[in-house]
Amino acid sequence: MKPIIILGIESSCDDTSAAVISDSILLSNVIANQQVHSSFGGVVPELASRAHQQNIVPVVGEALRRAHIDRHDLDAVAFTRGPGLIGSLLVGTSFAKGLAQSLNIPLIDVNHLQGHVLAHFISEGKAGEHFPKFPFLCLLVSGGNSQIIAVHDFDKMEIIGQTIDDAAGEAFDKCAKVMNLPYPGGPHIDKLARSGNPKKFAFAKPNIKGYNYSFSGLKTSFLYFLRDNILENNDFIAQNINDLCASLQATVVSILMEKLVLASQRLQINEIALAGGVAANSALRNAFAHYAEKYRWNIFIPPLAYTTDNAAMIAMAGYFKYLRGNFCSLTEVPYARVAI
Ligand code: KG4
Repeated sequence: MKPIIILGIESSCDDTSAAVISDSILLSNVIANQQVHSSFGGVVPELASRAHQQNIVPVVGEALRRAHIDRHDLDAVAFTRGPGLIGSLLVGTSFAKGLAQSLNIPLIDVNHLQGHVLAHFISEGKAGEHFPKFPFLCLLVSGGNSQIIAVHDFDKMEIIGQTIDDAAGEAFDKCAKVMNLPYPGGPHIDKLARSGNPKKFAFAKPNIKGYNYSFSGLKTSFLYFLRDNILENNDFIAQNINDLCASLQATVVSILMEKLVLASQRLQINEIALAGGVAANSALRNAFAHYAEKYRWNIFIPPLAYTTDNAAMIAMAGYFKYLRGNFCSLTEVPYARVAI
């Protein structure tokens, strides 16, 4: 039987990405990052949508070329409909609509958060691959999200806990900024933390009921701690940068893991997955490995290319919707905010 070939398009924030999937096997995944934001210390929405406009045609062309797929062989076009920056989403949405209409094939809208979760089912066609079984818990941590998602089926997901203020990646980035580290600061903190003492400094941890998170208190505690110490020693940050990064990182990871352990124990779910850009964090990955042993979890951490924003996960989610005949009309519009 001819495989189902889906083109996925992702443009929710500052990465323009296109991917081709044949059944659940990934044929290509092209990502164009936008360097234009680095000097601003954060993503500038207007610049992001302009860069998407420049990138979308070459990125899609390259994804088809690497997959050795002619556009006429596509069965459907899947695109990120939201949540995300509306100007960025409009570029991917408009392109997907135009392509699907010109090829007379179905259009599939994908929730970006569901895409992150379903990235765990991407196959590279290698032997020994294993995928989570339902129900599983997915910790989704990125620059915009910190959520625990209970995944009951491909199209049945429930956010059981989420941040009430900043996301974990945002906390890393904001704390990095006060230490004058480049944007995005998360990877820099991770790198510097490797030669630091995670127990050197203690920062405030939130006390919130249930599975929800909060990171704004930690950010403020970190800021005040630096301010007070700089008053005594102007070089405090430079002299303690490794220990500061290690202690901050250990605090973020322990906040994330405490709620995940609670959810796993109360819901009796031992299949635990990690998604989102912060999944690259080495301390978080180590904590996953540690808890897997301690609590007999089956853990799932996809390759880094599928944890950050990418179109492979959108194509994958699109494939499951295709199988269920769940298409979207050309009149649908993107949404900046939406639940899962
Ligand atoms: O999913 P993602 O690529 O896109 C957004 O949601 O924006 O995640 C980006 C986030 C940023 O906050 C970045 O600092 C963080 O992921 N990040 C990390 C690491 N790599 C990326 N945070 C901590 N440690 C890392 N190694």
